[in-house]
Amino acid sequence: MPENRVPRRRRFVVCEPRHFAVQYAINPWMSTGRPVDVIRALDQWQALVDAYRAHGHTVDTVAPVPGLPDMVFAANCAVVVEGRVFGSHFHAPERRGESVAYEAWFKTEGFEVQHPEAVCEGEGDLVPAGRWILAGTGFRTTPEAHREAQEFFGVPVISLTLVDPYFYHLDTALFVLDDENVAYYPGAFSPGSREVLERLYPDAVIATREDAMAFGLNSVSDGRNVFIAPGAGELADRLSDRGYVPVPVDLSEFHKAGGGIKCCTQEIRETRS
Ligand code: ARG
Repeated sequence: MPENRVPRRRRFVVCEPRHFAVQYAINPWMSTGRPVDVIRALDQWQALVDAYRAHGHTVDTVAPVPGLPDMVFAANCAVVVEGRVFGSHFHAPERRGESVAYEAWFKTEGFEVQHPEAVCEGEGDLVPAGRWILAGTGFRTTPEAHREAQEFFGVPVISLTLVDPYFYHLDTALFVLDDENVAYYPGAFSPGSREVLERLYPDAVIATREDAMAFGLNSVSDGRNVFIAPGAGELADRLSDRGYVPVPVDLSEFHKAGGGIKCCTQEIRETRS
């Protein structure tokens, strides 16, 4: 019998994709020749927000800014742990204006924001996982940013090296199920980083490349319900076997920009988990 998992209520921050588009290509998923259907994107995004609310989570919104087509990917704007906000410093100049908009939002909500000196793309690469923070590097966020984040939060930061350009952010290759466990695709990591993950999570849910390419690892878990791309069927089955409840939400329009459910979702963690 799988365990009976208990969800924890979350506070999420999202940004409506009113100005979403693919206007530049900064990852292998993006092609400026493949237009985005904004109406469809708006519908898909609304379904995600509705699913969060239907499961008891709070969802706040940041106003979208014209000319910032990737601003819908709220996860990249910051990492918030115990109410401390570590902002972002985007690799691509095209995205840097997003930090300004999100930092202003956090300030009006009463948070102070630490702006990183090194390149750092928020929860895209810095993934709080219970007692530590898992941190990706290789394509975007730098090891210097991992050190800055550890100094800022006073929480151990575990550096992991990403090696496959399709999984350029840690949150495309791994997601946190609960404070004790994660799901990931081993092929996205260097051999040493794979070994680190095996030591930390001997009981992890392992995903195939196919599930990872369907954005199955760009999921959000509340400890019980896992908001997941419907294309990641095998992973959803493995999660069900472990007592999690997959909640399929289709964000296919966003895959054209290299993003999915988790990319569209920032989490505000106010208290120690
Ligand atoms: N087009 C965006 C970029 O390449 C997508 C960001 C996806 N966000 C994420 N958290 N993985 O930066």
